[in-house]
Amino acid sequence: MSKKSTQVAIIGAGPAGLMLGHLLRQAGIEAVIIERQNQAHVLSRIRAGVLETVTTGILEQLDLAERMHAKGLPHSGVKLADGERLIRIDIEGLTGRTVMVYGQTELTRDLIDAAPYRDLEIIWEAEDVAVHDIESDAPCVKFTKDGIESRIEARFIAGCDGFHGVSRPAIPDSVGRPYEKVYPFGWLGVLADVPPCNHELIYANHANGFALASQRSLTRSRYYIQVPLTEKLEDWPDDRLWDELALRLGPDAAAHMTRGPALEKSIAPLRSFVFEPMHHGSLFLVGDAAHIVPPTGAKGLNLAASDVAYLSAALIAFFSENDSDAIATYSEKALARVWKAERFSWSLTMLMHRFPDDGVFDRRMQVAQLDYIASSEAAQMEIAENYVGLPL
Ligand code: APR
Ligand code: PHB
Repeated sequence: MSKKSTQVAIIGAGPAGLMLGHLLRQAGIEAVIIERQNQAHVLSRIRAGVLETVTTGILEQLDLAERMHAKGLPHSGVKLADGERLIRIDIEGLTGRTVMVYGQTELTRDLIDAAPYRDLEIIWEAEDVAVHDIESDAPCVKFTKDGIESRIEARFIAGCDGFHGVSRPAIPDSVGRPYEKVYPFGWLGVLADVPPCNHELIYANHANGFALASQRSLTRSRYYIQVPLTEKLEDWPDDRLWDELALRLGPDAAAHMTRGPALEKSIAPLRSFVFEPMHHGSLFLVGDAAHIVPPTGAKGLNLAASDVAYLSAALIAFFSENDSDAIATYSEKALARVWKAERFSWSLTMLMHRFPDDGVFDRRMQVAQLDYIASSEAAQMEIAENYVGLPL
């Protein structure tokens, strides 16, 4: 049995665990990250790539924003396509702010690469990770590494282990409550080394279903289409996928679309999920461990970042000033922001997708809302301020 102790044991080396670990180490707090996968696996996951100021701000605070500023693309607007019509939401004009298009994979790489230089230990390939004694002041994380049973004792555990992790199930049913909505379709995503069809993102509502034109750089595009959950990747050879994207995104995008071989294709289900509370005893839930949004609006990573901003400040106040007030209000504060982002992601999902059970009335409601957005600055402001990110 190998044994060690730290102040904060962090489960999961996704963006939540990595940002939290770095912020704590920067403040001189001991922290260890325990991750189930290996580094290559974590760096191969393709996720969204639209960063709000809360997320870019953490990289800047950590002095790890150099690559993001060199390679990332600030976007000052976003577009909604509806048949022939393209509605531009002038995010910068309306809010004075922009979003940063920079892949989550790149952000994760920046944080992992810096870990050894910042004395942030990451234990990779930890098997059978389990949390114990969370209702005490001396919880611990047990796992097996290279066949050796290990135990890390801590003052707090941060569950940054995503939707399928072990932290959330450790909170007793009598304490925690999940809220969930599952959508009757998924997103088929494709990554290709071709220039984007538009300099901004386009979210499209077409009779065949939703489509999204996104990007990772000026030479790499990321596209999605709504598909039934029964769909198989084999049913979507590249040519069929490009044809469908061109149709759904509308004539302007189609005219500028460059086709190319898919580097990656995958289908992901859509879900809204919130678990309350995000704190029990000595365990905190952070990021996807506590909540999931459908990807419409790209809020997942940014919500993980706002949780991290609240929790790191609370832990720093606890360890540096012996102040436990912020720890006591972490869950309430984080959830207030989470629910607003859940509402925005849900409403954009409802507006831009075709639901199998929807009738003509539901469709008319979508058209009416898109008409309203096209003609009202107030409606555009509602989208802009949510898309760019609500204040902390
Ligand atoms: N033990 C250790 N690590 C675990 C365990 C476990 N039992 N279960 C899961 N993990 C790891 C996963 O392998 C992963 O690396 O926890 C990490 C969780 O990372 P993410 O799933 O990326 O979640 P998070 O860090 O909260 O990032 C925010 O929001 O919408 C999404 O795309 C967005 O992935 C981003 C996420
Ligand atoms: C992406 O680029 O992968 C992306 C962008 C915006 C979204 C979702 C995904 O809303």
